Amino acid sequence: MAKKTIKDINITGKFILTRVDFNVPINKNTGSISDDSRIKASLSTIRYLVHHKSRIILCSHLGRPNGKIVDELRIKPVAEHLSHILRLPVSTTSDCIGHEVIKAVQKLKDGNILFLENLRFHPGEETNDITFSRKLSSLADIYVNDAFGTAHRVHASTVGVTKYLPAVAGFLMETELLTMDKLLTNPARPFACVIGGAKISDKISLMQNMLNKVDVMFVGGGMVATFLKSQGCNTGKSLVENDKLEIARNLLLEAKERGISLILPTDVAISKDINGDSSSRITSANNIPPDEFIVDIGPETINMFPENLGNCHSIMWNGPLGIYEIPEFGKGTRAMAQFLADTSANTVIGGGSTVETIREMGLVDMIDHVSTGGGASLKYLEGKTLPGVEVLEDK
Ligand code: 3PG
Repeated sequence: MAKKTIKDINITGKFILTRVDFNVPINKNTGSISDDSRIKASLSTIRYLVHHKSRIILCSHLGRPNGKIVDELRIKPVAEHLSHILRLPVSTTSDCIGHEVIKAVQKLKDGNILFLENLRFHPGEETNDITFSRKLSSLADIYVNDAFGTAHRVHASTVGVTKYLPAVAGFLMETELLTMDKLLTNPARPFACVIGGAKISDKISLMQNMLNKVDVMFVGGGMVATFLKSQGCNTGKSLVENDKLEIARNLLLEAKERGISLILPTDVAISKDINGDSSSRITSANNIPPDEFIVDIGPETINMFPENLGNCHSIMWNGPLGIYEIPEFGKGTRAMAQFLADTSANTVIGGGSTVETIREMGLVDMIDHVSTGGGASLKYLEGKTLPGVEVLEDK
């Protein structure tokens, strides 16, 4: 990797400000962490720092408290969970800067771990404020960024602090970047990209960038309606982004000219409403009745997965193929999850809601790489640089 990691510097006995993305879902009723995969994903970095006798100052955001203290978003339960998994003490502070924090940091011995309070309780975090960045960085000798999921944000703890400290990547950050880089530069071919989601406008940059890389592109989800409409099909009441019809037409044209097979569903599930109050039925994709919505891909399209994707050696998936939150409309999304779990291809899931399905189905271990960053992986696969990565030291 082009960027330095914790393996490239001397960390022993040093105070290491370690940015992790432990923005984990917390059950409102029980207060417990309902998915700790982001915590587990950074364990190798934390264990390495402990093993090399660093004095570890962890920091993360949790939720979106908008610069105010929100008791339900305190970091303590997350720190306790980490401590439980690590089987090591993890102390906490009631703020992330200030006297109490400085004292707690001074008490740290080699291999000790301190977890600072939620960074976003300070408005300076999200505005990348210089004073806040300086105070945060003054706690440490070195900065480590392992928060891939937040690397697309220009915040004090992802960008600001790097003005004042030597900045390197942690192991999770390294793995995420190496995996995405391999897909973008040297994927095992044929390489397919499965793209879903409600709106084409959210995925245009991704599709445009991936058209330069893939051999096959399968498109599902609500955005299919805009593609179908661009080809003159009736799309019923489905959401069509009329200002994007030209772009959809051009994407289809560009794929054709480059010899890339851009696959749209041949059949779809349709329903009179999108809330799950009416049942769904299957119809051909090119003629949706005026009073119905496309809610999922259909069984014929699902049965074509092996033919369309079966010979691929790498497959990247981003975005659900239907209104997956309603189980009846989630058949296509679940079928794709199962297909990817069963295939021998190198599989990468680009974070966000597709990951939810993979987790619910217990298939995480059958996917080669499940990204910890929804927004960050999307940006990276769009071919954009991540601000939190750019500022790390080059090798
Ligand atoms: C995420 O969950 O996508 C990251 O933690 C970033 O959170 P944010 O979207 O609130 O910046």
